[in-house]
Amino acid sequence: MLLKSIVSLACIAAAAAQATKGKIFDHIFIIYLENTDFVKAAQDANLTSFADQAVLLDNYYGVTHPSEPNYIAVSGGDYFGLNDDNFHSIPANYTTVVDLLEKKNLTWKAYQEDLPSVCYQGFESDALYFRKHNPFIIYDSVALNTTRCSNIVPATQLATDLSNNDLPNYSFYTPNMLNDGHNTTVAYASAWLKSFLPPLLENKSFINNTLVVLTFDESDTYDIENRVYTLLLGDVIADLKNTTDSTFYTHYSILSTVEANWDLGNLGRQDTNSTVNNVFEVVAKAAGITNNNITMENAPLLNGTEPGFLAPAPTTSTSAPAGSQPTGSAASFVSVPKVFAAVAALAGAFAAMI
Ligand SMILES: *[C@@H]1O[C@H](CO)[C@@H](O)[C@H](O)[C@H]1NC(C)=O
Ligand SMILES: *[C@@H]1O[C@H](CO)[C@@H](O)[C@H](O)[C@H]1NC(C)=O
Ligand SMILES: *[C@@H]1O[C@H](CO)[C@@H](O)[C@H](O)[C@H]1NC(C)=O
Ligand SMILES: *[C@@H]1O[C@H](CO)[C@@H](O)[C@H](O)[C@H]1NC(C)=O
Ligand SMILES: *[C@@H]1O[C@H](CO)[C@@H](O)[C@H](O)[C@H]1NC(C)=O
Ligand SMILES: *[C@@H]1O[C@H](CO)[C@@H](O)[C@H](O)[C@H]1NC(C)=O
Ligand SMILES: *[C@@H]1O[C@H](CO)[C@@H](O)[C@H](O)[C@H]1NC(C)=O
Ligand SMILES: *[C@@H]1O[C@H](CO)[C@@H](O)[C@H](O)[C@H]1NC(C)=O
Ligand SMILES: *[C@@H]1O[C@H](CO)[C@@H](O)[C@H](O)[C@H]1NC(C)=O
Ligand SMILES: *[C@@H]1O[C@H](CO)[C@@H](O)[C@H](O)[C@H]1NC(C)=O
Ligand SMILES: *[C@@H]1O[C@H](CO)[C@@H](O)[C@H](O)[C@H]1NC(C)=O
Ligand SMILES: *[C@@H]1O[C@H](CO)[C@@H](O)[C@H](O)[C@H]1NC(C)=O
Repeated sequence: MLLKSIVSLACIAAAAAQATKGKIFDHIFIIYLENTDFVKAAQDANLTSFADQAVLLDNYYGVTHPSEPNYIAVSGGDYFGLNDDNFHSIPANYTTVVDLLEKKNLTWKAYQEDLPSVCYQGFESDALYFRKHNPFIIYDSVALNTTRCSNIVPATQLATDLSNNDLPNYSFYTPNMLNDGHNTTVAYASAWLKSFLPPLLENKSFINNTLVVLTFDESDTYDIENRVYTLLLGDVIADLKNTTDSTFYTHYSILSTVEANWDLGNLGRQDTNSTVNNVFEVVAKAAGITNNNITMENAPLLNGTEPGFLAPAPTTSTSAPAGSQPTGSAASFVSVPKVFAAVAALAGAFAAMI
């Protein structure tokens, strides 16, 4: 009787563990490079040399300009109207993919090259690490929570994690300002990739039901479509090597793919917007999801700024301040009273205290 209960308990435990297994992958490793138009990336020999071991996503888009909103979009499912690269903290009542992962006991880390210390909150370090390229530190729901923030680590931690056979289920990797091409060129970034990526792709503690997503945060040219060169790599796409998937995808697709893979539910933001949330076909098929057929004619332009609470205060000046970036059409520009932002910040601080 006792034995039988123990056996059935063990079965229940095994079933529960299995229920949370990923449909396609057990690990996802996301790498963002910087500021390169699709066409330019597609001409880079070192970058395209990865394509024969990959699925090329040739209809994949950043969601706005400049950099920072494209980073907070992948972790939080929106960029809340942000159209600058300044120091921002999103109030603690804003959830991210971390909330969804934790509910299923899935582990995560943000590996940041040249981050000076775990959970470093500063704007930059050594001119190599920049907060604007860290998609988790900007959310107070992560940054002000000691347990969560301990998962924002210097990239050197990756080797340690691999030697302990402990790759997190969800990883976001940010190369430094040189390696990601930001201050350099796509040729510099791809030369770096040529030394960084191949050893990982052959490492058994890295490649173990792993999907690698290699993409760029945004195109370099603002007044064209925001298309970026994107590859899916890893053992889970082995049967699809050297193929092209031309489904319309965006950075929100990474989030919705993660959600579909592990049945995480959603954040109720752009990850539920059927115009921009197509799930990578390899996972969509396994999850029984039919993607939206977004064609050239009905594809949204993703080079402007949608409204949101992080939109800048309205300016009465007709000329843009020096050094400012294009910000989309005047119609898409919604001003939010500063008092709202102050209330939100206070609420965030309060939520973090309780
Ligand atoms: C999460 O990662 C761990 C460590 O690699 C692995 O053992 C586990 O199977 C993964 N879980 C899921 C549900 O993918
Ligand atoms: C997560 O882990 C806790 C503690 O081990 C367990 O009670 C819970 O059932 C797990 N949740 C899932 C979704 O596996
Ligand atoms: C990279 O460029 C930024 C400006 O975007 C600059 O502040 C920083 O010093 C540069 N870093 C290096 C290592 O060149
Ligand atoms: C802080 O993070 C831990 C685990 O990562 C989580 O269990 C807890 O709910 C979080 N606290 C708050 C206030 O969000
Ligand atoms: C994987 O990488 C880690 C860290 O570099 C290393 O310790 C480990 O030996 C590697 N494993 C294999 C099978 O190459
Ligand atoms: C490709 O990368 C290697 C280093 O990994 C470098 O030596 C080579 O010059 C690069 N090729 C091009 C065309 O940039
Ligand atoms: C691969 O992951 C499974 C659990 O998902 C684990 O049991 C196995 O040890 C891992 N293999 C290697 C080589 O790390
Ligand atoms: C977005 O791209 C379209 C053409 O693809 C262009 O007409 C429009 O001006 C661009 N918008 C911005 C804000 O640059
Ligand atoms: C990849 O596909 C192209 C044709 O699309 C072919 O020329 C090339 O040989 C293939 N490479 C490999 C490694 O299979
Ligand atoms: C869905 O995304 C499109 C493209 O960005 C946008 O125009 C539309 O407003 C979004 N819908 C909602 C409900 O957010
Ligand atoms: C998507 O729609 C276009 C017409 O709008 C059609 O030509 C094409 O075959 C459709 N593709 C799929 C995969 O349904
Ligand atoms: C966060 O709190 C602010 C202030 O109370 C509120 O206006 C906002 O709607 C909240 N946002 C979310 C996502 O709960």
